[in-house]
Amino acid sequence: MLEPDDREALRSTLWPYQIRLYTDSKEWHTETFMGRIIGISGSLRRASFNSMLLRAASQLAPDGTTIEIASIRGIPLYDGDVESAEGIPAPVQELKTRITEADGLLIVTPEYNNSIPGVLKNAIDWLSRPPEDIPRVFGARPVAVIGATPGAGGTSLAVKWQIKCD
Ligand SMILES: Cc1cc2nc3c(=O)[nH]c(=O)nc-3n(C[C@H](O)[C@H](O)[C@H](O)COP(=O)(O)O)c2cc1C
Repeated sequence: MLEPDDREALRSTLWPYQIRLYTDSKEWHTETFMGRIIGISGSLRRASFNSMLLRAASQLAPDGTTIEIASIRGIPLYDGDVESAEGIPAPVQELKTRITEADGLLIVTPEYNNSIPGVLKNAIDWLSRPPEDIPRVFGARPVAVIGATPGAGGTSLAVKWQIKCD
């Protein structure tokens, strides 16, 4: 449970969301974002700091913004043969639908070996299938990546991954 002072400090750090948008003119600009956000944690660990951070963000959402927590748990390893034979697995389809119905996506992830965890990358790989759906799932939808780590690097390399996939 957060103390009132900690809660206020976290609120002023996280809110309002300042999201960097990449515009057609190839320039970054910052906008305040309000709306309905789907949040996923990149860690499956029961006591995950990142899942805690996601829950804190959800609890501290300001008026006009909701963060609904979704999960990548249960998403199988990507296998092109499974996709060809059976299509998109139900947990992936469900997550895709929740993302497409939201105004934004918040990914809260640890850094593993200077990148994002394999389970998260695997989920994103599935979410990018079939490729015709990519604009519907990720296009024109702000995606923010934040993270928590006991290490000194502050998940900076995991968060940088977001920029690489633009
Ligand atoms: C396989 C593995 C690789 C890791 N690599 C990094 C890393 O590159 N940078 C870092 O800051 N922490 C790294 N860590 C430590 C994680 O940040 C730490 O375990 C963190 O608590 C995991 O997030 P979680 O608490 O949300 O599960 C690594 C941990 C594991 C298990």
